[in-house]
Amino acid sequence: MCGIIGITRAPVGDGSGRSDVLEVLLEGLGRLEYRGYDSAGIALVGPDASDGLWRARAANGTRSLKDLTKRAEDAPELSSAGIGHTRWATHGGPTEENAHPHVDCSAGLALVHNGIIENHVELADELVAAGHRLRSETDTEVLAHLIEVAVSDHPEIGLVGAVRAALGRVRGAFSLAVVCSDEPDLIVAARRVSPLLMGVTGDSAFLASDIPAILGLTRDFFVLEDDQMAELRPGSLRVTNFEGEEIDPQRITVDWDLEAARKDGYDDFMSKEMHEQPKAVADTLLDRLLPDGTLSLDEMHITNAELRAVNKVFIVACGSSYHAGLMAKYSIEHWARIPVEIDIASEFIYRDPVLDPTTLVIGVSQSGETADTRIAMEEARRQGAKVLVITNVVDSSMARGSDAVLYTRAGPEIGVAATKTHLAQITALEILALYLAQARQALSPHDARVLFEQMGVLPDKVALALERSADVEAVAATYRDSPSFMFLGRQVGYPVALEGALKLKELSYLRAEGFPAGELKHGPIALVEPGTVVIGVATRTPIWEKMMSNITEVKSRGATVVLVANDGDEETARQADAVLWVPETEYLFAPIIDVVPMQLFAYHLARLHGLDVDRPRNLAKVVTVE
Ligand code: M6R
Repeated sequence: MCGIIGITRAPVGDGSGRSDVLEVLLEGLGRLEYRGYDSAGIALVGPDASDGLWRARAANGTRSLKDLTKRAEDAPELSSAGIGHTRWATHGGPTEENAHPHVDCSAGLALVHNGIIENHVELADELVAAGHRLRSETDTEVLAHLIEVAVSDHPEIGLVGAVRAALGRVRGAFSLAVVCSDEPDLIVAARRVSPLLMGVTGDSAFLASDIPAILGLTRDFFVLEDDQMAELRPGSLRVTNFEGEEIDPQRITVDWDLEAARKDGYDDFMSKEMHEQPKAVADTLLDRLLPDGTLSLDEMHITNAELRAVNKVFIVACGSSYHAGLMAKYSIEHWARIPVEIDIASEFIYRDPVLDPTTLVIGVSQSGETADTRIAMEEARRQGAKVLVITNVVDSSMARGSDAVLYTRAGPEIGVAATKTHLAQITALEILALYLAQARQALSPHDARVLFEQMGVLPDKVALALERSADVEAVAATYRDSPSFMFLGRQVGYPVALEGALKLKELSYLRAEGFPAGELKHGPIALVEPGTVVIGVATRTPIWEKMMSNITEVKSRGATVVLVANDGDEETARQADAVLWVPETEYLFAPIIDVVPMQLFAYHLARLHGLDVDRPRNLAKVVTVE
């Protein structure tokens, strides 16, 4: 998840004054930093073709933009168009070489990109074989060189035609903006999946991936839709489809202020981030689920032979990441038939675990910096185990200190409560479970295909679950005065219950405990009395009947029961005082969907209590101490 901005503007006054293209870009990048701050960069062209292209980039974490601003003191006084980018690294570490804008071999054109080019490896091989020099590890850079190829093969098609030709070669998701010194007042933009908005005022035209970046310039925006391109020139905008046919772009007007815009109009970051979950899941699947019905995780650099040699998997994590690991335990054991142990990192470190080179230790951490998990990974490596880290932060301490990394692609998460990073973790772990099964030939090709198909539609199902937010709010309102909540689940529903309880604790400071429903009669049922609110995960799994027996047990002691149930499952609904509906899926994927109403419930209840959901008391986003 990155931020893009671009502006083309007629030179100020008589054309001899300093243009403010650079200032607009730097200010816009400042408002995009929440999209990522691994690096920041800009490219400027014009006003004459002979002025060439000027580029500056900086990769210094949260200081990237400051460093870039310093470097921009050397920028040309006058420029007619420019593009800027703030990066959240996904392909390639957070280095200056990997920072956008990327340029072609002659450094005459520059490009910023948000999204993922799925077939970048084969395209890079082809370009290198044809003599191109690729300087970064990113998936993006191939685009700059593909445009260069198209221009040099057919100069008459110009930049617009060349971008169109280049995009014909790529698979994946993109929003991008390109400038070229030969056409110095033009910005070419294109979109597939990743959003892009544009505006035109007076002698300017501009674009951005997010409204805040250009909200100071206009409140009227044009939306670039999927598979559309745009040509921006000072004071004009032309939108076409990929066949070149002109299109009337959709227009929107916003009445938000800047703070609201940073949150895309949501009241808080948590809500925004929950609504980004379909994209987080889709991006985490992208280029790993191949069109030929297989999975590819070559990025981990672990061979199939090494995966076949694994005798035991050990998952180690904290908090929500631990719950994601617990969900994956069921999948790895069921599909790949490898025994899985799981532990909370702070316990693992001091329990003298038995590991050897045939143990695959998986550390799960959205931040990649959590001290307990990081130390646990160090201990695992010391004992000779193979260490794989699943994290959302490229080049984080844990990513650097592991044998292999599998990145989630949720983009930066600002709300303290993990939401989109959690769903992305579960997704990555499910992919890993199936990948292990594929490597060990533990699944028939038919079963694998069915599962991959189900996986592909998970983002839509997450979106459907989110659409029920108002219904969940109504249920939360009904139980807003309850002093405590009991969460129950069995099998994969158990970690969902744990996550539901954790979210409620974190956000509303109420007593909320999660239990395996089968364990009730061994103690926790003593807590149940008339009026106790029990939230049960009762979506359809092979042991749904057993779960419903446990629900009957608490009901007969007077509990009020709220059940998470699959759409249309009236049999389950009849046992509930209130229902949180979710779409059905393969039961081992169900946590990805069933967690959503848990998040929404905690979110709405906390807001009903007037609490700050983005900054819950006593908590920090990253816990770097033991
Ligand atoms: O960055 P990590 O995933 O390692 O963080 C682990 C926990 O601290 C984290 O999941 C925490 O429980 C969150 N506040 C959950 O919302």
